[in-house]
Amino acid sequence: MGKKIITITGAAGNIAYSLIFRILSGNIFPENTKIQLNLLDITDALPVLKGVKYEIEDCAFPNLDNIIITDNSELAFTGSDYILLVGAKPRSKGMQRADLLLDNANIFQKHAAIINQCVSSDAKIIVVGNPANTNALIVQNFATNIPSKNITSLMKLDQNRAKSILSNKLNTSVSEISQLVVWGNHSATQFPDLNHSLVSNNNEPIKSLDQKWIEDTFIPRVQKRGAEIIEHRGKSSAASAASAIYDHLYILVNGSKDWESMGVMMKNTYGISDEIFFSFPLQILDSNIGIINGLDVSEISMKYIKDSEKELLMERDIIKDILKG
Ligand code: NAD
Ligand code: LMR
Repeated sequence: MGKKIITITGAAGNIAYSLIFRILSGNIFPENTKIQLNLLDITDALPVLKGVKYEIEDCAFPNLDNIIITDNSELAFTGSDYILLVGAKPRSKGMQRADLLLDNANIFQKHAAIINQCVSSDAKIIVVGNPANTNALIVQNFATNIPSKNITSLMKLDQNRAKSILSNKLNTSVSEISQLVVWGNHSATQFPDLNHSLVSNNNEPIKSLDQKWIEDTFIPRVQKRGAEIIEHRGKSSAASAASAIYDHLYILVNGSKDWESMGVMMKNTYGISDEIFFSFPLQILDSNIGIINGLDVSEISMKYIKDSEKELLMERDIIKDILKG
């Protein structure tokens, strides 16, 4: 019987309140695997975290081994197999995610430094707190004992949004759609790419869509979906973000038959800097992440992709002094 330790930061927050229960009721790991949850938040949030712990206990999950609630990062990270870095300030109405950069950088720098001291190099780190791709860069910069290939940032929410919006348009199930990926930053410059997508009834390329709908409706809707949720809910997405984190973790553990999107720092054939976390079309098999290189990318698509790279390079410039340590 195996055991996995999963650390979640920001564990008293909105996303964690969905994520924890999704992980414990899901099937990420082989049957009989026990899960230890290390739940980290700031000192002021500990009373709330205690309530969350009681609720987890009240679910009587058979696969739950143990829960640690703490404001001590070292305790939370030590021995962890999967570290979900959620704890960070969310944006509110009218803000861009990059506006959070300087507020949140400090959290990721501190966590990375501690991860570097007390986590095995095999541990997998998923960065969720915004701006996720550039926070992943901070983590990579300060957790030098963790290979870059074990650090990814969340783009699955964008990919799920793209699939759902497309499936509504085509009046088909999301399960019928494959090879729909999102390139770039988790921001309004991301590029949801339909050019390689298939509808699986007959595994055919999607032909029936007019370019105007793709450019004027599909792409901006996916790019701005986070802001649309904030507009309606008054706060940022939580349940759908948790669901996407679950999917991301599931794929890291079990692989995927479909193309996937995650922020990764890797050499590629597309001329994109390998010094930033950028979302590419990925093939993930047996926990190995590989970029699907050499795809035909049109001039129009490349313009979107390059704009997103430019934005990530600008975000990197904003934190260049922080990266120096
Ligand atoms: P929230 O405000 O509800 O919760 C954040 C939690 O983090 C709080 O409990 C807070 O006390 C805690 N926290 C703050 N500093 C901490 C620290 N140093 N150590 C540990 N915990 C700390 O926010 P939320 O809705 O759960 O969102 C969390 C982050 O995830 C935000 O930055 C949000 O923008 C981001 N997000 C990313 C995606 C994505 O797709 N990448 C999707 C949704 C939200
Ligand atoms: C999202 O995409 O819903 C999150 O990144 C939250 C946000 O700020 O949009």
